[in-house]
Parts: sequence; structure tokens; C-alpha cells
Amino acid sequence: MKNKQTEKKTSILPLTDMLLKEKNPEIYNRGEEGFNIYASSMDASQQEKARIIPFIRPGLVAEMGCGNGAVLELISNTFPQSQVFGFDISDTLLQMSADRKYKNSNVTIIKKDVREKIFEDDTLDTIVYCSTLHEIYSYSGYNKHTLKQTLKNAYDMLAPGGRLVIRDGPKPEDELLYLRFKNQKTEEKFKKFSEEFGPYNIYYEETGEGFKLRSSDAMEFLSKYIYEKNWVIEVKEQFAIYTPAQYAKELENIGFKVIHNESYLIEWLKKTHYEKDIEVYRKNKDTGAVEIAPYPDSTMIIVAEKPIKAMSKLKNAYEVQP
Ligand SMILES: C[S@@+](CC[C@H](N)C(=O)[O-])C[C@H]1O[C@@H](n2cnc3c(N)ncnc32)[C@H](O)[C@@H]1O
Repeated sequence: MKNKQTEKKTSILPLTDMLLKEKNPEIYNRGEEGFNIYASSMDASQQEKARIIPFIRPGLVAEMGCGNGAVLELISNTFPQSQVFGFDISDTLLQMSADRKYKNSNVTIIKKDVREKIFEDDTLDTIVYCSTLHEIYSYSGYNKHTLKQTLKNAYDMLAPGGRLVIRDGPKPEDELLYLRFKNQKTEEKFKKFSEEFGPYNIYYEETGEGFKLRSSDAMEFLSKYIYEKNWVIEVKEQFAIYTPAQYAKELENIGFKVIHNESYLIEWLKKTHYEKDIEVYRKNKDTGAVEIAPYPDSTMIIVAEKPIKAMSKLKNAYEVQP
């Protein structure tokens, strides 16, 4: 039986834009080994990323920045009746995504710059940005305007009631933290990071309590010090642009209704890396004593809906309890 929603007319706007890869050749050239490592990390995190799947509204589903297809595969398997589109800018990753053996024949992969409006207005049931928005922001010159325009395009492309599913890095609330490194290698990586990080040099002070810096800078370091081969690329990216609350506000300004907002630390990062290499401290606001602090969250999931306009005009409607 065919899902009614897959019978909707899908119209993809023509590919007219200049491709990001051609604009920024040095950024996307990870080299063969770099691409293979990058793609294996997408596969390794596939199950973690499955947390976003329950938020997807089936039908016409687009994953923006689909990489090697790890998330597309999850979507395609869970919603065999849906029509699933994957867009990316990188030829290497698009090829990997196309070579993946999907169980269902409901996946279409297309080369596109996902900052652009790809579908006509009011078309899609779900748009997913899984670890993609921070790349859009970073490779657009750390430009919030481009990020906001991308989200506005998503709003326009979604059908009323359609869902936007974002998984990315959360900026922590502003405070000062102290990092203590458990080995020389991590301390050296931190100093390298402070000079090479994408948008600005990291300001830190070496104190008796540890390396004192802003919480957002600590989060950026923790999220990327584990990279080796792809370091030169990842260190240029800013993972956390907004706090979850700021993200929600930006989405609401566009017209979205935020229906889910969570942030958390991936356990694997904590156990395999952080606990071996770093301790985080903060000053107690009341006593001034320096005490151990939790590692900043690594990941946030925000889900927002494009409201069905007519619904907001329905006054005196009864709320029906399930
Ligand atoms: C970190 S990967 C995530 C891949 C996949 N979503 C996943 O979670 O496994 C980000 C992807 O976004 C793509 N990307 C970044 N900026 C893009 C743009 N402007 N247009 C299309 N793809 C883009 C990159 O090529 C890369 O494949």
C-alpha cells in the first residue's frame, strides 16, 4: 500500500547556485584518508543519532548535509513508505551515500548547497539538519545571517505541521571554567587549539587552579581535541553557535513552535576521552572555592513545527484529552 503522503507532488528547484566546494576548495579537501575517517565517524555515531528518528514526521523527508548516508539509512529503514531525500555538497560523500546499500528504494541523493531553498514552499513533512548547521555557519564565514536565512528557507519549504529536526552542538551558558589536563599531549593540543581555532584566538589564563577560559571556548576545545587527521579542518569549525534557549528563540522568531529541546553529553566521549584527559572546575558562586564541574554538553536536539495557520484562528476549541 502506498503512503498517501508520498503521492504529493515533489518539485525541486533547479540547481543554479555556485557550489560551496568550488568556493572553498581548501576547506572541503580532506584527502582520501581524511574522508574515510570522517565517514567512519558518521557510521560510528549512527546509533547515537538514532535519537532524532522518533521526531520525524513521515512523508517527504529531506536530510540537509547527508554526508555518507548514515542518517538517511536510519530514516529510510524506519519509514519505508516515506520519500527520503539526501542533499550534500561534497562529491566524495555523495558517492559514499549513493553506494550505501539501503534496504528500501525510497532514497534519492542530490548534490545541492543546502543553504539555498531547494523545494517549493509548503512541500516537506520533515527537514533534518544533523551536525550540519555548524558547518553551514562556519563555512559561510561564521555568519549568523546565513544560518538564519537557511532556517527561514527550511520554514518556507515545510508544509504546515511539518517538522524541523536539528542535532548539533549546544553553546553552554556563559561562565568561567578551569581546565586541568591529565597529560602533556592534551595540554599541547589545547595551546595549539587556542591559536588555530576558526573564528578567533582563544583567550585563556594559566592559573594555579587550571587554564581559565570561557565555558563556550572550553566546549569548543572538548568537542574537537580528539581529531587527529581531520584536525586542520575541524579546528576551523565553530560547533556551538547558540545555547539551546537562543536556538529556540531564533526558531520562534521565524514562526516555528519549538516542541522539543534537550542537550546532553555523549557518554562515549566522556568515558573514552574526557575522563582520561581533562578535568573541569568552576568557582562556587557563594564560597569562591574551586570545585569540580560537569563536562559541557556535547549535543543538543531541537525539534520545531511549522504551525498550521488555521489552527491558531480556531477560538473556543475544546482540548480533547487522549
Ligand atoms: C558532519 S557531516 C554530517 C553528515 C550526516 N548528517 C550525519 O550526521 O551523519 C556534515 C555534512 O554537511 C555537508 N555540508 C556542509 N555544508 C553544506 C552545504 N552548504 N550544502 C550541502 N552540504 C553541506 C558536509 O559536506 C557534510 O557531509
